[in-house]
Amino acid sequence: MEKRIAVLPGDGIGPEVMAGCQRVLEAVVDRFNHHFVFTEGKIGGCAIDAEGTPLPDATIKLCEESDAILLGAVGGPKWDGGPSQLRPEKGLLGIRKKMGLFANLRPVTTVKSLIPASPLKEHLVNHVDLLIVRELTGGLYFGEPSGRDGDAVVDTLQYTKAEIERIVRKAFELAQVRRHKLTSVDKANVLESSKMWREIVNQVAPDYPDVEVEHQLVDSAAMQLIRYPEQFDVIVTENLFGDILSDEASMLTGSLGMLPSASLRSDAVGMYEPVHGSAPDIAGKGIANPLAMIMSAAMMLRYSFNMHKEANAMEVAVQQTLEEGYHTSDLAIEKGTVLKTSALVDKVIEQFSGNDTVA
Ligand code: NAD
Ligand code: IPM
Ligand code: MN
Repeated sequence: MEKRIAVLPGDGIGPEVMAGCQRVLEAVVDRFNHHFVFTEGKIGGCAIDAEGTPLPDATIKLCEESDAILLGAVGGPKWDGGPSQLRPEKGLLGIRKKMGLFANLRPVTTVKSLIPASPLKEHLVNHVDLLIVRELTGGLYFGEPSGRDGDAVVDTLQYTKAEIERIVRKAFELAQVRRHKLTSVDKANVLESSKMWREIVNQVAPDYPDVEVEHQLVDSAAMQLIRYPEQFDVIVTENLFGDILSDEASMLTGSLGMLPSASLRSDAVGMYEPVHGSAPDIAGKGIANPLAMIMSAAMMLRYSFNMHKEANAMEVAVQQTLEEGYHTSDLAIEKGTVLKTSALVDKVIEQFSGNDTVA
């Protein structure tokens, strides 16, 4: 089946993990006889350097004409001092908004061989399998006014009922095909937006009678995530809360370099982006963990292309690679073999090509 994929490597380790991800996708093409057309576009700092804007029109057009988008990461110290419209991050926020990608799914699953890599005690993370559903196109990131006026500064946390309802319903639907538990995270003891968020969750809950709902305040939820992470199935929350909680949750797996994500809307088009950033501290060294990007591509196969056996085969290959002890240096484990990015990708492809039985 032919699929058009927009490839936006971005900055820092973005191009390094994207190169590995594309090599794994080539293996998918070979094995399953698909036809993927990859077209590269610029976003973030590299687009500022080349075109003077973090989100060139040509990139928007490419994304609009594609079946799915793969994004590496944007940002870096080189562009940190610029005006806010000329920041790499504006490019990322812009493409999410432009494409209407309101639902960001961030699964957090522990892999057995990586359990010692988590800073938490083994018995706490043995069976973590949770999904953060982060609202992605509203809230504090996009509310107006936002800006400075002399010594005064403002950001606005703004939502409409419709924006909250669509993300909450999406989370309920996801809980229905998982373990039937939804935790809505808010700050309803202080914020008006959270009070409305909680009301809407309670209003729509009767439509999903097979899902158990609970509410947690975000400060307490941050604590619960490390006190007893296995209590969570699906977590649904506002844009900024979801951003912060997902980086925290990554340490249940041992590294931020392990978390993939899918940014979705109501149709099949989606953008697939690791949760991590451009990691300027390790960029250019060839040591970045490519697995978050690779597993993001597996989510693309599943959510945008309906290629479930292909996605499973990719995920199994990643798991087997880790179980054989191969990993990058961000994972703090004594056992096993530390590999550089491209060598780890080689191992994943070897596993992928050898595990025909799971297809
Ligand atoms: P970061 O996620 O880039 O890095 C945080 C830490 O995790 C660093 O020590 C880094 O080396 C490590 N890390 C992250 N990904 C890794 C990987 N795949 N393999 C190994 N180690 C990894 O966050 P930061 O340092 O706070 O931000 C750096 C830049 O990235 C900033 O400009 C920020 O705005 C941007 N950023 C972009 C995205 C994105 O494009 N989606 C996400 C987060 C941050
Ligand atoms: C993420 C990142 C982005 C966000 C930044 C780079 C704009 O941290 O994808 O988690 O905050 O959404
Ligand atoms: Mn983030």
